[in-house]
Amino acid sequence: MLEIKDVNVSYGNVQVLWNLSMHVKDREALAILGANGAGKTSLLRTISGLNVPTSGEIRFQGENIVGVEPYKITQMGIAHVPEGRSLFPNMSVGENLVLGGNLSTPQQRAQTLEWVLSLFPKLEERYKQSAGSLSGGEQQMVALGRALMLKPKLLLLDEPSTGLAPIMLPVIFNAIESIKDEGLTVVVVEQHVQEAFKHVERAYIIENGRITIEGLPKDLENNPEVRRAYLGID
Ligand SMILES: Nc1ncnc2c1ncn2[C@@H]1O[C@H](COP(=O)(O)OP(=O)(O)OP(=O)(O)O)[C@@H](O)[C@H]1O
Ligand SMILES: [Mg+2]
Repeated sequence: MLEIKDVNVSYGNVQVLWNLSMHVKDREALAILGANGAGKTSLLRTISGLNVPTSGEIRFQGENIVGVEPYKITQMGIAHVPEGRSLFPNMSVGENLVLGGNLSTPQQRAQTLEWVLSLFPKLEERYKQSAGSLSGGEQQMVALGRALMLKPKLLLLDEPSTGLAPIMLPVIFNAIESIKDEGLTVVVVEQHVQEAFKHVERAYIIENGRITIEGLPKDLENNPEVRRAYLGID
């Protein structure tokens, strides 16, 4: 559903993505892995239109999206949950969720809200509480829920487990499983490689702005370089 070909991205005169090619299949969960500063966030921002490549192609469901305004890319069906979640802490859970749905009619919004709350019942319990008073894991649920309010086809998640205790990892990945069961395609950037491997069908490793390794979790787990650099196993 998403096809990226030979994409180059720079911030000013600092190039951060180099001839990067990758694809995402319909309804798969895909992980993007890599060290700090490798270019993972830059890649997600490029897909959602926040960074514009200097060259290369990006096609979403067959349509070119290079140079398309971010809000139009969102309307086409790509939702991006950024690093750090960017919730409105003083607003309630419900208000944060409804803000995500401002591209649809009130009726569609009510239906989508019902769907999101059925996926994450915890948010219904916390509906009137301020988002800032929730636990980190619950706040991540709100961020996921807000993105789902857009009824996207493709969901981009940038390090959803950042700042959470390891014990919260299954909560995040179970939420990703539920989202997949709803027929969505998910691209997740994650530092917890071992946990990510349990829940994704395929992964790419990005180093210094280049894709260096691509494959199935079971193959990557046996790759000596992946074991050493990302799994901490000699
Ligand atoms: N707005 C910016 N201006 C200039 N350079 C930037 C900007 N944003 C990121 N960079 C640089 O681009 C490179 C890739 O950064 P990016 O945030 O994409 O990495 P990342 O893989 O997401 O890292 P992390 O795991 O720390 O989130 C880094 O060298 C970073 O310093
Ligand atoms: Mg990042």
